Parts: sequence; structure tokens; C-alpha cells
Amino acid sequence: MKALSLSTALLTALLAHPAGAEEGGPVSLAAAQASADATVKQMKPEEMTILTHGIMPLALGGAAGPIPADAIPGAGYVPGIPRLGIPALKETDASLGVSYVGGVRKDGATALPSAVAQAASWNSALVYRGGAMIGSEARAKGFNVLLAGGVNLMRDPRNGRTFEYFSEDPLLSGVLVGAAIRGVQSNGIISTIKHFALNGQETGRKHVDVRISDAAARESDLLAFQIGIEQGQPGSVMCAYNRVNGHHACDNDYLLNKVLKQDWGYKGFVMSDWGAVPGVEAAIHGLDQQSGEQLDTALFFGDVLGRKAVSDPAYAARLADMNRRILTAIHAVRLDSNPPVPGGKIDFAANAQVAEEVARQGIVLLKNADKVLPLAATARSIAVIGGYADGGVLSGAGSSQVHGEKGPAVARPQSAKEGPFSSFFAQQYHRSSPLDAIAARATQAKISFRDGRYIADAVEKARQSEVAIIFATQWTTEGLDVPDLSLPDGQDALIAAVAAANPRTIVVLETGGPVKMPWLDKVAAVVEAWYPGARGGQAIASVLFGETNPSGRLPISFPASEAQLPRPKLDGSDWVEPNFIGEVGPENRALTADYDVEGSDVGYRWFARQGQKPLFPFGYGLSYTSFESGGLKMSGLSARFTVRNSGTRAGDEVAQLYLVSRAGTPKRRLAAFSRVSLEPGARQTVSVSIDPRVLADWNGHGWTMPGGDYVFALGKDAETLGQPISIRLPAKSWKD
Ligand code: GLC
Repeated sequence: MKALSLSTALLTALLAHPAGAEEGGPVSLAAAQASADATVKQMKPEEMTILTHGIMPLALGGAAGPIPADAIPGAGYVPGIPRLGIPALKETDASLGVSYVGGVRKDGATALPSAVAQAASWNSALVYRGGAMIGSEARAKGFNVLLAGGVNLMRDPRNGRTFEYFSEDPLLSGVLVGAAIRGVQSNGIISTIKHFALNGQETGRKHVDVRISDAAARESDLLAFQIGIEQGQPGSVMCAYNRVNGHHACDNDYLLNKVLKQDWGYKGFVMSDWGAVPGVEAAIHGLDQQSGEQLDTALFFGDVLGRKAVSDPAYAARLADMNRRILTAIHAVRLDSNPPVPGGKIDFAANAQVAEEVARQGIVLLKNADKVLPLAATARSIAVIGGYADGGVLSGAGSSQVHGEKGPAVARPQSAKEGPFSSFFAQQYHRSSPLDAIAARATQAKISFRDGRYIADAVEKARQSEVAIIFATQWTTEGLDVPDLSLPDGQDALIAAVAAANPRTIVVLETGGPVKMPWLDKVAAVVEAWYPGARGGQAIASVLFGETNPSGRLPISFPASEAQLPRPKLDGSDWVEPNFIGEVGPENRALTADYDVEGSDVGYRWFARQGQKPLFPFGYGLSYTSFESGGLKMSGLSARFTVRNSGTRAGDEVAQLYLVSRAGTPKRRLAAFSRVSLEPGARQTVSVSIDPRVLADWNGHGWTMPGGDYVFALGKDAETLGQPISIRLPAKSWKD
């Protein structure tokens, strides 16, 4: 949590932060720090290295010792100090709900839609509700740390963890992850924000060395974290596996000491990712806690650290600070005075409603030729094809995998590899069947389902039907990137063949992120449903039949091809054998990723700079109604405009304000956004304020906005911009 530089955003966040799980609300940072200081003073030397490391409380084999009796099967366990009233830290993954840990847990939890689906709602209040819901389930199961808050910018859409992250834009990502973290911590538990920083690919993730200038990092990935930390106040930051400019992110003086703790004034603690600690020196470079110690080459933050602290005053001072930071986070959400107790009541029906609402608002309508959607409930014959739509909806794999009580509807192993994590490596579907949800609405229709494995059979059904709905899936996972953006398993051919047989073909995508669509001009409609979570089938059907007016807007650009990307060939993709956990390939060659190619111009900024036209731009999304925005007026860093529903049915619009050029130089940046709900014919005046950092450059020790003409425009998306207006702003420089 940041020192209180009560910016508007922060003040809003803090005032919006409801009481903790106990009366009296959150503890102020100053009070939490004072309690921490007092506790550290009472610690005995041998107690100083208890909180600084933890295990993965699973039978992973190897040298792992006995699992403590009070540990809960999950991601992590850090012993407490009962003598001082310090609770053990019981940690679970992750951003999408309480992980089922490869099937080790059988108790079930509510799966939120993927983070990219949440981001497609552009609705921070809704994302807060999602965080509050999964945080309440973590607490009810006895966990006091939820390893949530994944916010790495989507620098490469082939990243296997795109589904776990929010966006390619730092403002949208920071605001939404801040809301998610506030929601989680409203339950009186600690949330993380992760993976700090620049963890942009899974290929060779423990070895890739990201090269990027300070300015480019501060204006993009780091700005997302900075806004998220300001607005979310996470108790902990999880550092990443990759290197940044030659140093492991978890052993990185620049990232952890200079940026996070010195420049941003962060007062919580840095936990490592699991198996991301190269040595005891990481303590001096800003790491506070070694997580999942069995996965590292050694336990560094136990006796080794304790001995260093005896012989070296720098380590002694650091060790006291490490404990102070961990205790500050514990006291700030009252983990000590208001500990979670396992066996708490969970209202799964109510929680499923939250997941479904997030899915409904995150679904993006990408094409709707001749208004083929919404479908009429009186449809007479419908062919439903592919995507295991008879069983459920796809989810992303890895540490963030969540499942309900009965486990996955379908689980297709994706690797023959044995090992402690192989059970994580399967294509899994949540029990929410789109086919059942469609049948429940089209009660007069003859509905045929074909799994799509035999194209001719599926084509015949499509030919015989009034409309064909194809569910197309792209499975993605932590630890592995996708080799390209095409739909796998021959689905492009299936879609083309079905569309040739029935022009009223609707494609529903269940993907981790962007995909190419070679059949786009042959189908009537395309709906991006992402990984839609525990009630994704119902959410998809509600959009297809018009109960829900689609309002999602893309939080990530959909490229027309990989050639448009800053790195057309993903670094390491030619030598690292695709394997889980992203270890180095046989050659053990050094692997670097040069992020200075695009610098801070990630996603739509890159497309604008290159003059490239993506398949679908950032911010894009259609509706069953229509909207008009206009009347943009700027006054300093405030903007006012009106939005009108010019169509015939109620709907939500996401108004987007873009910087178009600055002091005569083209510069495309999302400056502000606002989601509004409007009845047909209604109009609303919207006011937004612009975070000046979004308009500025990092000058090495602070921010600079050059003086001159700033041109802004309202956008339907990052490409479709309205009437620009120019405002002259003075030159200005400032420190964080
Ligand atoms: C994983 C992930 C991280 C997760 C942690 C614990 O490798 O990178 O997101 O929270 O380990 O499972």
C-alpha cells in the first residue's frame, strides 16, 4: 500500500473502501505501521526469519518437509508467530476465484470470467463486485491471502496468460485492477497485485530478459501497477519470474527498491512468485518474502538470511524492514484481530449471479450483419456446433484455474508429461452448457448439436437449419504461449464449411484473447465471449436471444496478422520446446525480448504509430441499439460531453476519450472512459478528469507534459474518432 498521497483517485478509492470484515473499517496505514513497528521490537532474533519464507502446502515430493496441520491445500503457507499474535498466512490463487489446485481441492468455488472478459465491461464497479465475491469465498474457506491482481499489459496477444490480465492500456488496466483488489480486500484479507513487472510472455518465462528503457516502462507497464496500487492498496506485490534489464524481477533493485518502494512509497511487502528467487541477495534488492520455497534451488530467506543478518548490518536492517512490511499488511486488513475461519457460509447461487453479470457485460458483439442477432425465440431450427457446447464453456489453465463443486464438465489433458503440475495442464470446461441455455429459450426450435469433429456431418446439420451457431475455442494456459493467433484444431475450416452451407452462421468465440478470422466475411455474426466463467452458457444465450444488449468493448486490439505485432515472431518460440512452466529449452541459450521496439506504445498505440489497421481495434464493440456522443468540451484536464441512445432499445455505452496529438506530434492514448446506461432516446452529460500521467512523458525523475496544443477526440474505439478539439496546455513537470 502506498504512502497516502491523497490524489483524487486514491481518496475516492479509500472512501469507497467499505468497512473491513469487522466494524471499524480498514486500519489506516499509519496505525498499521505503528502496530508493525511495535511487534518487530518484540521479536526474538530466531523469530525474525519466520515470516520471510513459505511453502507450497502440497505433497510435491522432493525435499519438502511435513505440511503443517493448520495449512490449507492451496498455493502457499507462511507460519505465524503465536507468541506475538501473528497469524500464519494461508494463500490461495487467484484473480478468477479460489483455485482448485489441479483437483486437490474438491470443495468447489465460483469461477469469475477471465480478467480480459471483466475488462471488456470497462466497469470498475462490476469488477469490484467480482473481487469482493471471490474474496468472500477465499475467506470462507479459511484463506487470508488471495493471489489476485494480475495486471501485466498485453504486449503480446500470444501470451498464454492473456486471459488472466486486463488490457493493453495502462489506464484501463490500472483502474480495473485497483477495483478488483479493493473488492478482494473488502473481506478483510490481503490481495496481491502481480506479476511485477513486464512479465509479457510465458515462453522461457524464468529466463527471458526483458530490455526496456526506464521511460517506456514507467509510461506503460509500471503505470498500470502504479495506478492499481494507488487505487487498490494491495497488501502485497508479487514480483515476476522474468528478468528486467539483466536482473531477475525478484532480485531487482530498480524495480523493487527504486521504483516501488522509493519513488512510489509502497509500504506493503514484496512476495516472490513461486520458484522465482535466485539467492539471498534478493533481500537487499527489495524482496521481502520467498514463496513456495520448495520450488527454488534452496531456502534462502530462512537460516541463510538469519546468518547474514548477524554478520552484516545491511541485512540486519533489511530483515527488520521485511518483517515490518509483512506485519503492516497483516495489520492493515486486521488479519490478526479478525482472522478468517474455515467453514464459512458461501451463497453459491448469489455468487454465480455475480459471475453471470460480469460475463454478460464482458461479451463483445464484433459483427452482426443484417441484424441476424438477436435471435427470435420462435426460431424453428437451430444447429449448434462445436466447443463442447453441450457440456460447458472453456476456461484458462494454470494456477488460476477454478472449478465448481463437481469439477470440470470436460477435462482434456493437453500433455503426456508426468509431474506435480501435469494435472494443471488440461483443457477444462465449466458446467454451464450453452446448448441447454439456448434450448431453454428457443422452446419451439428443433435443435441439433454436433461436436464439430466431423465437418461434413456438421455442415449437413447447418444446411438443414434456419441458423447455425458455432462455438469456436482457443485454449490457453499459464506456462505456454500460443504459436500464432489462428484458431486451433481445424476450426477455421469447420467455420468456413458451415458458413458456405448456411449464410446465417453465428460464431461464438471462447478464447483467451485475440484470434484471426479468415472466415469473417462469410459469417453473419461474431460474438467474443472469452472464458465466460461459472455461468457462461447462460450469459452467452442471454446475448444471443437479446435479453442482454451486448455492451462489451475490446480491452485488447485484435491484430489482422502476427506480422502487425512489434515482434512478429515471439522471442524463444523457435527454440524452447513448448512445455509447461516455461523452462528454458535444451540449448539453454540466453533469451531476450526487446520491448523498446514499441516502448510504451503497446497495442492500439503501436497500431496508430505504425499506421496499421487491426482486424478489430481496442475499444470496439457493437450493440443492439446505437449511440451518439458529442459536444466535447475541455477545460484543463477535465472533459464534458453528451452521450445519447439513438436507437430503439436500452443499452450501455462505453464512452472513450482519446489524446490524438500533443504539441503537434501524433500521440494516441486513452485519456479517460465512462460507461453509461441509457434508455432509448435518452441522453446523459458525462464529466471525466484526466490523469496527467497518461498525457506525459517520464523524464527520468518525474513527469513532463510539454506545452502546446493537445488534441482530443471522443472515440467509438481507438480508431473511430469523432470531431477533434484542441486545447492549449502549459508545459508542466512534476514528481510522483
Ligand atoms: C504461479 C504463478 C502465480 C501464482 C503462483 C502460486 O507460478 O505465476 O501467478 O500465484 O505461482 O500458484
